[in-house]
Amino acid sequence: MNNIVSKLNAAGQQELAARLESLSGEARELLERDVLSQDWEELKALYAEKSAATLADNVSADLKPMPFKIAADDLRYDFWKETGEILLQKGQVAAFLVAGGQGSRLGFDGPKGMFDIGLPSHKSLFQLQAERLQNLAAQVGHPIPWCIMTSPLNHEATVNFFTEHKFFGMDRDNIRFFEQGTICALDPNGKAVVDENNRLALVPDGNGGCFRALAQSGTLAWLVEKGVQYVFLYSVDNALCRICDPAFIGALASEGRSMSASKVVHKAGPNEKVGIFALQNGKPGVVEYSDLPENYRDMTNADGSLTFDGGNIAIHLFKLAGLRKLQTSRLPWHTARKTVCGIEKCFKFEQFLFDAFPLLGSMLPFGVVREEEFSPVKNADGNDSPKTARNMIGRLHKEWLKKAHVEVKEDKLYEISPTISYAGEGLSRRLFVREFGRGILEFEEN
Ligand code: UTP
Repeated sequence: MNNIVSKLNAAGQQELAARLESLSGEARELLERDVLSQDWEELKALYAEKSAATLADNVSADLKPMPFKIAADDLRYDFWKETGEILLQKGQVAAFLVAGGQGSRLGFDGPKGMFDIGLPSHKSLFQLQAERLQNLAAQVGHPIPWCIMTSPLNHEATVNFFTEHKFFGMDRDNIRFFEQGTICALDPNGKAVVDENNRLALVPDGNGGCFRALAQSGTLAWLVEKGVQYVFLYSVDNALCRICDPAFIGALASEGRSMSASKVVHKAGPNEKVGIFALQNGKPGVVEYSDLPENYRDMTNADGSLTFDGGNIAIHLFKLAGLRKLQTSRLPWHTARKTVCGIEKCFKFEQFLFDAFPLLGSMLPFGVVREEEFSPVKNADGNDSPKTARNMIGRLHKEWLKKAHVEVKEDKLYEISPTISYAGEGLSRRLFVREFGRGILEFEEN
């Protein structure tokens, strides 16, 4: 106990130390547990660094675009796909879902993966993902391990949801849930924020906390034991994510030198609010929309296309060796000034997973078509909302049916269950007739 108090005092947290000493019994135990979960020296250093920072330009002058090509147009695409399927069949690939976010923009009371985007089947995002994974696993003939990162704020609800739905038919032993870390919010004077229940204001440490959490939870060791070599990392809210896309895996495996690969889309326009892939001081990374200077944002090539055009859709693939390196690497901390427990302008810190790329060196950009693979559910209405996601799924699945020579109604959209088709394969008129009203549902664009 004295040890804790002296540590807090040394880190400039005298008020917190005094509060701890004033408590007894369970209240004291709980606050003590919160205090022990934090690195107070690091928080002190972070506050010193961030409170002194002005609105410095985060982007270095040496910024170059990272060229990419749409992978499906490459002659090697089928080869990559076959290679990826072999690796999946050998059990060398796992899926890693980062689902620790609070989903505040969507405003849904619960883990975002439980959200029903309003498809006719009313499947949740978690169910769509589980079914896609199972379809692919069945095609390659090997189960695909699934790591799911939650946060202390949504862990229980997530695990309960999966339990209630019997893990959507998956083998429980092949899914591993674990919590990401938290970091204490600091008030404008650098003091730890304590809530009305005498608990620290701990907030999830950002999706960049995933590398530390993967290792500290024992999940990285679990993957090593299973012989996994490639980890497909994705966000919970992309309704069109092709989880463990074989071609993507095969492309990284064939390329040899890179530790990671990322899916990239052409930006919809200069003002689309996505981060872009670029080379900063020769190293690959992502520049956030708000950090990209305006002249770079609008810069065009001779043919009129955007120069900084590679949109980040948060779909990445890591070699296991890369993840092992990242477990001990220090990612930078980003700061937001928010109201916490009624105190204005508190410091909230978080790490971003895309800051891993400069640490890993060379990275393989893998261009994909937005309409086929990217439909994020971020907001309740408008752009990137449940409505845009279900319409995009409906249009894409209608295209799949058309390619399979199924006569579809021009004024309708279609939902094809991921249990029937992973990415448009295996469809036919006969199958359509058999599955219509069951695995294939019709709906209207709205
Ligand atoms: P976002 O940056 O969109 O954040 O997360 P969010 O929390 O889901 O939504 P808002 O900003 O509060 O509206 C992108 C991905 O990173 C995960 C999210 O769950 C999502 O899959 N994430 C985010 C974490 O796993 N942990 C975090 O601390 C933050």
